[in-house]
Amino acid sequence: MHIEDKVIILDFGSQYTQLIARRIREAGVYSEIHPCTIDIDELKSLSPKAIILSGGPASVCELDAPKIDPEVFEWGLPILGICYGMQLIAHMFKGEVTPAKDREYGRSELEIISDSPLWEGVEVKDKLTVWMSHGDTVLSPPPGFEILAKTESIDVAAIGNAQKNIYALQFHPEVAHTEQGDRIINNFLFKIAGLKPTWSMSSFIDSTIKSLREQIGDDHVVCALSGGIDSTVVAVLLNKAIGKRLHCIFVDNGVLRLNEGEEVVSYLREHFDLNLKYVQAQDLFLGRLKGVEDPEEKRKIIGYTFIEVFEKEAKAIPGVKWLAQGTLYPDVIESVSFRGPSAVIKSHHNVGGLPEKMQLKLVEPLRELFKDEVRKVAVELGLPDFIVWRHPFPGPGLAIRIIGEVTPEKLDILRQADKIVQSELKASDWYRKVWQGFAVLLPLKTVGVMGDERTYEHVIALRVVDSIDAMTADWSRLPSELLARISNRIINEVKGVNRVVYDISSKPPSTIEWE
Ligand code: XMP
Repeated sequence: MHIEDKVIILDFGSQYTQLIARRIREAGVYSEIHPCTIDIDELKSLSPKAIILSGGPASVCELDAPKIDPEVFEWGLPILGICYGMQLIAHMFKGEVTPAKDREYGRSELEIISDSPLWEGVEVKDKLTVWMSHGDTVLSPPPGFEILAKTESIDVAAIGNAQKNIYALQFHPEVAHTEQGDRIINNFLFKIAGLKPTWSMSSFIDSTIKSLREQIGDDHVVCALSGGIDSTVVAVLLNKAIGKRLHCIFVDNGVLRLNEGEEVVSYLREHFDLNLKYVQAQDLFLGRLKGVEDPEEKRKIIGYTFIEVFEKEAKAIPGVKWLAQGTLYPDVIESVSFRGPSAVIKSHHNVGGLPEKMQLKLVEPLRELFKDEVRKVAVELGLPDFIVWRHPFPGPGLAIRIIGEVTPEKLDILRQADKIVQSELKASDWYRKVWQGFAVLLPLKTVGVMGDERTYEHVIALRVVDSIDAMTADWSRLPSELLARISNRIINEVKGVNRVVYDISSKPPSTIEWE
């Protein structure tokens, strides 16, 4: 992908680094995160037009503090340091930095004391509320740098050297709590670095299709379609790039939601003329799951059975050299971050191990995108709401939402209950507001009454959560009328259920799925 105006963020390990990248992209400028340890020649080969130094947990006063090659500063590119980035600039240009007694964390009031292009158009009535999270403090700026702002507790809260085009902020403009933070970032991008907002999803689509054609040549590609947004967008992009040389495989593993397989497959066939094979492998999966209660065991069975089925289908297609995957940018950053590979295991890699096993090369057209950008691409490609806004769904599907053994009868109960949850969330406009909502079938029965009879039936647990990235989550405060409607409908309409409970646990310490 060729990009004219690119900003490189050098990551010193801040929890906000991804946010910086997102804000820049929201402003229409392409940005990438690289570890601060990147080699200077490699950095130059990326041809950035501006550089941002992120925050980070270290102190420049420590001997082993992360630094960057001084050549970065001699290069003449516009540079913005944020938090640790500012302390590093101050330190490397021989200003005075001192470790603070206490870490300052939270809101602070910024007073702008000197004119700067950074503040252009920033409306300040009295002071500007900004978000601070730092240990070290700059006591005096380096020679050639001017103090641009201060707060009550620190005299040097922003500095700039107009001649060198280097600026630095002690606070975090990328965090939503900072008032007009986006304006400050935009000023750096457009007024100081003179960049143009050329990054848009339609430009992404055009350039990706072009580069996919170059990358793949006349080869054939195989793609596992799950019905989720990532794999669907990958398939549609590749379909536009190489047409019928893309071979999509949709495996029905018997633990999908009600009618899910048919819906997705028929939509894609009808609207995108995809080369798509719908493999009905329900009996194979359910046969292997018979009698299995342990959730890890279920996951393993579904995982290797999927690989087995997919591999057999893929091998039947002559001349396949590539496997397409829906890897997203956060997965990529985690593996290159300054903090090292993250302990988080990305669970959507349901085809894990396949490329090596089948000796296929990987093609990952969404590697540079955040989830919200994938949604925008999906809209731009004309995908419908039911795919664009589909909630995340685990690879092992309903098998991990049935606690205990998976049987056709239990699947039937859960599918009906889940359908009611999905349709009520959609009808009440809550579907898009929450991260995920679903039903879980518990492995116990409780007593109830129906007419004059005592009943002894299943319990459905309702799980609806708010989250940004599934790393943490809170239970959604759904209106009680909606909860009542869902509960009434499930108990009245789903035979075999006489009780519905609502899960009010947060993650951590709970998880989103029950397993
Ligand atoms: P937990 O239960 O760990 O789930 O809080 C976090 C998010 O990951 C989803 N999840 C999966 N997604 N394959 C997937 O594609 C899986 O095996 C898998 N397991 C959990 C879960 O739905 C939630 O959004």
